[in-house]
Amino acid sequence: MSSQQDTPENSPHILVLGMGGTIAGLAANPEENPMEYQAGQVEVASLLAHIQSAIPEGIRLVSKQVANINSRNLTESLLTILGEAVREALANTLVKGVVVTHGTDTIEETGVFLQLTCGKYAQNLGKKVILTGAMLPANAPKADGPSNLLDAIRWVSAPIDNCPGGVYAVMDGRGCLAMDLAKRHGSALNAPIQDSPSSSVGLINPSWLSGVKAVQVLWNEDLPIPKEGEWPWVEILTSHAGARSETITHWLNSKVKGLVLAGSGLGGFHDAWRDSLGAAVKHGIALVRTTRTGAGKTLPDLPEKDIAGCLASGSLTAPRARIALQLALNAEKQVQATAKSLTWQDFFARIAVLPVIR
Ligand code: SIN
Repeated sequence: MSSQQDTPENSPHILVLGMGGTIAGLAANPEENPMEYQAGQVEVASLLAHIQSAIPEGIRLVSKQVANINSRNLTESLLTILGEAVREALANTLVKGVVVTHGTDTIEETGVFLQLTCGKYAQNLGKKVILTGAMLPANAPKADGPSNLLDAIRWVSAPIDNCPGGVYAVMDGRGCLAMDLAKRHGSALNAPIQDSPSSSVGLINPSWLSGVKAVQVLWNEDLPIPKEGEWPWVEILTSHAGARSETITHWLNSKVKGLVLAGSGLGGFHDAWRDSLGAAVKHGIALVRTTRTGAGKTLPDLPEKDIAGCLASGSLTAPRARIALQLALNAEKQVQATAKSLTWQDFFARIAVLPVIR
């Protein structure tokens, strides 16, 4: 094995990008209270040095610290920087694959962002981009980060015929498309779970693989990465008992470009919102409807006819639908400059139809 220090960037290697998170966290008193910790404390190079002796022979690693944050503080600018770093790495013939260490709180957003901006590129080049994280800080007695990172490194280096190039995530010995991973519990150690069936890392499940291919067939063109400072402003609003029209009208005189409505049940929202949402559409605010339940599809004209121009999110959760809407609005702006007449709805519809792997 070659250590990171003696691995020159000008020979074939796996690039490991560090974003921070619990995987890079440190607890003040790890034996007594491992959950009282600060995320984003350890450099990604140190995380790799810690597992160096377990890295299979022949795998060369280069690391780059993109950020070292608690991912609840993830910004759109950081997504731009990460997305560009991933695309640059994919374009580099010396980079055989990319691993991203990330906090689990917002891994859901980063997963869908990378799928929609780099997924086709990675697939066409036959390279994998794999996100991973941890639930316990790096110095906890039973830290899960080292095994997750090792799994990601082993999988990213696995032969192409095993699993196609694309954007994946690894946690707890299981792999899935990165756009299918989300944190689904506030504190449980197995909180980041796959929203669809996953595959054991190292033994790819054939039915899961055919689900991946079905998504990849439909995802035929990546969307542009918004430049730093040019992300359209999109908010998530939750419908609930006692909802008020002011929750919507509040935004009419703002620079908000889109609203994701996390509705109840099938994605329906409180009647108190209906008129003000009509006004929002007239103001040019893009509307997407999803469900606050955290699972299941939101379909057009269910539970009742959609407000004209409002799109249903398909299987996208509210945080994913928000990223998707931002990318769709940005793509609309980019094509306007080329005089093509595609709307955000055209771009968003391509995302909302992506199938859930069953
Ligand atoms: C974070 O998301 O940065 C903290 C929580 C975690 O990684 O599990």
